[in-house]
Amino acid sequence: MLLSLLLATTLRQAAARDHLDVGFAITPSFLSEPEYAQIAGTEFSVLEAENATKFEPIHPRPGNQPGSYDFAEPDKILAFAEAHHMKMRGHTLVWHSQIAPWVRRGNYTPEQMNEILHGHIDAVLKHFGRKVFAWDVVNEAFEDNGSLRSTPWFNRPGIGLADQGTKYIEQAFRWAHEANPSPKLFYNDYGIELLGKKSDAVLAMLRDFRSRHVPVDGIGFQMHVGFWLDNPGNLASLEQNMKRFSDLGLIIHVTELDMGVPNGDPDTIKRQAELYGKIVAICRRNPAVKLIQFWGITDGHSWLNRGANSGHGLLWDENYQRKPAYQAVMAALAR
Ligand code: G3I
Repeated sequence: MLLSLLLATTLRQAAARDHLDVGFAITPSFLSEPEYAQIAGTEFSVLEAENATKFEPIHPRPGNQPGSYDFAEPDKILAFAEAHHMKMRGHTLVWHSQIAPWVRRGNYTPEQMNEILHGHIDAVLKHFGRKVFAWDVVNEAFEDNGSLRSTPWFNRPGIGLADQGTKYIEQAFRWAHEANPSPKLFYNDYGIELLGKKSDAVLAMLRDFRSRHVPVDGIGFQMHVGFWLDNPGNLASLEQNMKRFSDLGLIIHVTELDMGVPNGDPDTIKRQAELYGKIVAICRRNPAVKLIQFWGITDGHSWLNRGANSGHGLLWDENYQRKPAYQAVMAALAR
């Protein structure tokens, strides 16, 4: 054990002694950059499509025939994962965003929406079989105040369960499990890292689901964080909040970790590294945390670099140089 740790030269190796996986969100076109492919294939044990397994790219045409689906990109990701002895995670089956235009513009009835979503979940889960080890079945179904988000799957027009609260979410988990009982099934959301109204609402739903044997295995904390997290109160809140979810018997995956910061100045980047180290230490103290996954590899490719977001959020800079954050994560994994 000690020897393997001393010899650890990658995040993947350092995490392995805790039976912890380290993942990243992949965009297959970036694999044409040799540095990207090299880091992807050596530093991580899990990957997840940043976009390629969402509804719009994977189910671009109407209907539920083989020709309605496009599995080319996801299958490339799967092939890369298999070639590098990595596991693939699925993201995401039910989400208000990136729904194919044919669904958004179809003026479908709730009965038709029910058939579309059921068919989608069934086809996607059957396509991947055992090759995808975990799925975000439902993503971002709650508002910040803990109410349910109004979405095409819930109530605009919804799948016929618009007046029944979290029933449509439950239905999606049941369909997923019926289609393929092998992957672990997750509810995934942002802004649920700390104690608060939104995490209370998600916790209540999952407590209810667990008590009624709805097939849900885990909670995904996206963790798009920033310096707002960096005070003792919030870090304690993160730890307590993770504990109350794991007390339900749920697996925890950190699914989309990144940390946008205001600039790339050395002091800022140093503080970022320290906060990354604190987060990984908290994750390691909860044995229910089985995956720490980053939302990309380099700052240059990150979604944080678009629009008004603060950037510089990941472990490698735009020139593929390891940042202090990389060293801090490595040290926290190895400690
Ligand atoms: O693929 C199309 C391309 O065909 C088209 O020409 C181009 C024109 O804009 O758009 C391309 O699609 C973009 C896609 O990323 C792939 O690059 C979409 O416009 C763009 O909206 C999409 O952004 C993604 C975003 O989810 C969508 O909401 C980001 O890359 C992705 O990082 C982000 O990831 C989400 C998670 O899934 C859920 N949690 C939050 C996280 C960050 O927003």
